[in-house]
Amino acid sequence: MAPRSVIALYPGSFDPITNGHLDLIERGARLCDRLIVAILRNEDKEPLFTVEERIEMLREVVHPYPSVQVDSFNGLLVEYAQEKGACVILRGIRAISDYEYELQMALMNRRLCPAIETVFLMAKEEYSFISSRLVKQVIGLGGNIAGLVPPSVEVRLRHRVLDGR
Ligand code: PNS
Repeated sequence: MAPRSVIALYPGSFDPITNGHLDLIERGARLCDRLIVAILRNEDKEPLFTVEERIEMLREVVHPYPSVQVDSFNGLLVEYAQEKGACVILRGIRAISDYEYELQMALMNRRLCPAIETVFLMAKEEYSFISSRLVKQVIGLGGNIAGLVPPSVEVRLRHRVLDGR
């Protein structure tokens, strides 16, 4: 039997991508043959960056990883995963506070599609306090976000939040 290639999905809002997300992408990519980073399109939240801008930012930073692709999706994650032939959903856990939300989503996704497994990776300690929400808050209040997001993302954040571009 030919070996099956493992396609994993890393879904999220990525508004914007942080160094915590990037670390998860790097480590996740080593565990599968293809990793699709998938941005949810139909979000209730008002995003800072459009989906197209987020795709662009993600593509810039995942460029060194040939097995990583960037895409976006609408609707149910498990339906999109099935369309892509993905058997793994990858998510990160930073702290115990993430666990409840992640468990709920993983169990709902399992109920909807038992063939797809959610795999959790623990965030690296140095990134375990970073979230897109806090990064946006800190830069908006004039704080230093160096080292929290990739440099290209920091530039975009400065333009959007401080210069309104
Ligand atoms: O980065 P986020 O905002 O925590 O990501 C949440 C995301 C995109 C993974 C989640 O909202 C999602 O999968 N939405 C798709 C809708 C869906 O499938 N809902 C049912 C299962 S929870």
